[in-house]
Amino acid sequence: MAVLITGIGELTTNDPALGRLTDAALVVDRDKIAWVGPAVDAPDADERVDVEGRAVLPGWVDSHTHLVFAGDRTAEFEARMAGKPYTAGGIAITVGATREASDEQLAANLRRHVDEAARQGTTCLETKTGYGLTVADEARSARIAGEVADEVTFLGAHLVPPGVDAESYVDLVCGEMLDAVAESVRWADVFCETGAFDEAQSARVLKAAAGRGLGLRVHGNQLGEGPGVRLAVELGAASVDHCTYLSDADVEALAASGTVATLLPACDLSTRQALAPARRLLDAGATVALASNANPGSSYTTSMAFCVATAVLQMRMTIEEAVWAATAGGAEALRREDVGVLRPGARADVHVLDAPSVTHLAYRPGVPLTKSVWRAGERVR
Ligand code: NIG
Repeated sequence: MAVLITGIGELTTNDPALGRLTDAALVVDRDKIAWVGPAVDAPDADERVDVEGRAVLPGWVDSHTHLVFAGDRTAEFEARMAGKPYTAGGIAITVGATREASDEQLAANLRRHVDEAARQGTTCLETKTGYGLTVADEARSARIAGEVADEVTFLGAHLVPPGVDAESYVDLVCGEMLDAVAESVRWADVFCETGAFDEAQSARVLKAAAGRGLGLRVHGNQLGEGPGVRLAVELGAASVDHCTYLSDADVEALAASGTVATLLPACDLSTRQALAPARRLLDAGATVALASNANPGSSYTTSMAFCVATAVLQMRMTIEEAVWAATAGGAEALRREDVGVLRPGARADVHVLDAPSVTHLAYRPGVPLTKSVWRAGERVR
């Protein structure tokens, strides 16, 4: 059944050939976009939805979340707001709670957060393992994630579990753990940071994963400058995420590479770090994505609109750059051409704002502006 969405006051397509249209319409046919253009030229369809001058854009592509978890870290957050620094040590708390949870509890918690994101316009979402850290717990996290999320990343190398020797743990991640998850995930990631995995350990994990045909992602330069960005670029990772502390060489390396710099402003705020240097990256020519980093420790929000508003108000991105980064940028970080764009043939992921233009995402920060959402042609709001 084809649905004509018409009366679009401002249509952000992210397609260079179509650009941004006014007085536009689009046709959703089953799970795909079938037509995009001026409302006056719109073809007939089985159903017609008039959005009465509102802005329409592609659904958010949230390319970085950690949503296979159980438990709560409110106490850690309160301590942080009272001045205690974020060290990532709290990951072990979530690991304990996650191991104790049943499959059903983990799946229900993941589903609840994915639905929460969808109601706010997120139509494509990546999530990671990384709170299991045993072969069995990582394998079940990957399986549960695959039942709900669009993209699944193996993050066995999130933290060395307490009491375990680091080198032996890396052996496990690169061997038995990778064997157990390789069929259920598309990506592998490593937390390359002081206190997590050093450069040599990170390189081992990434090379082992690449050898199994997985795409690469890296958590890098979150808590300080370090080798994460350089390693990601050298190994051809699709994305390096956080990028909060970058040297000039890091910025240059990203600009000269196909590795996306995925910035996580909600995490920078929640951990009271500096905000990632978006302007330096963009001015140098790097590709920038924005993602929520939804997780119970460093960034407990699923709101991509909050990330966009922060990027504009605090990181000096233009509204166009921020909206692109949270849609097409996320798609690029996931190496996908079917999402983050509204053009014929793309997945019908459509986000209608209760506002006349995307500018209102930053102009009216904190206001829930999502009016309606279609994901793969199905109305989810
Ligand atoms: O991306 N940096 C490592 N991993 C997560 C934090 C997870 C946590 O604190 O539970 C992040 O911020």
